[in-house]
Amino acid sequence: MPSLEKIVLVGPMGAGKSTVGRLLARELSLPFKDSDAVVEARSGVDIPWIFDEEGEAGFRQRETAVLAELMQEEALVLATGGGIVLCEKNRRLLQQAQAVIYLSANVEQLLKRTEKDKKRPLLQVANPREKIQQLLAEREALYRQVATQVMMTEAQNPKVLVSAIVSRLRETA
Ligand code: S3P
Repeated sequence: MPSLEKIVLVGPMGAGKSTVGRLLARELSLPFKDSDAVVEARSGVDIPWIFDEEGEAGFRQRETAVLAELMQEEALVLATGGGIVLCEKNRRLLQQAQAVIYLSANVEQLLKRTEKDKKRPLLQVANPREKIQQLLAEREALYRQVATQVMMTEAQNPKVLVSAIVSRLRETA
C-alpha cells in the first residue's frame, strides 16, 4: 500500500477512537499514539487535574502543542481527544495526515460508553445526555470538515470496523 503513514482518528468521547486506533495500528504495523495520553505524559498530571487547575483553555493549549509534535512523526495511528477539531490551528495540522477518519456514533451509544467514566471533565455534569448532544451539535460539522473518511460505528464491533477502515484506505490510497 502506498504511503499511508499518518492516520488520525477523530470523533466524540466514547466513539471508540483508542480501541479502534490500537487495532488499526496493529493491522497496519504502525505505532499507536493517543493524544490525551501524550498530554498526560508531557504534563505529569492527568486530564481532570489540568481542567481543574488550568481550565479547558489550559488543556487546549497543551493539546495543540502535543498535536504539533505528533504530526512531526513519520508514521503513526493517532487517536485524538474529542475536542481536537475546535481549534483552527489543530484543523490545519490535521491536514498533514494522509487519512483522517471520523468515527461517528449516535448519542445513545456515546452515553452508554461514557456513563461510568469519571476521567472526562466535560461529562461530569447533571445531564450528560444533553451535554453530549450539545457537543455533537457544536462539533459534527468540524469532524466532517477535517475527515477524509467517515465511519459509522453503530452496531459494529471494533474488529469489523477496522477491516472496513483498512479496505477503504486501500481503495483510496
Ligand atoms: C474531550 C475529550 C477527551 C479529552 C478531554 C476533552 C472533549 O478525549 O481530550 O476530556 O473535549 O471532547 P476522548 O475523546 O478521548 O474522551
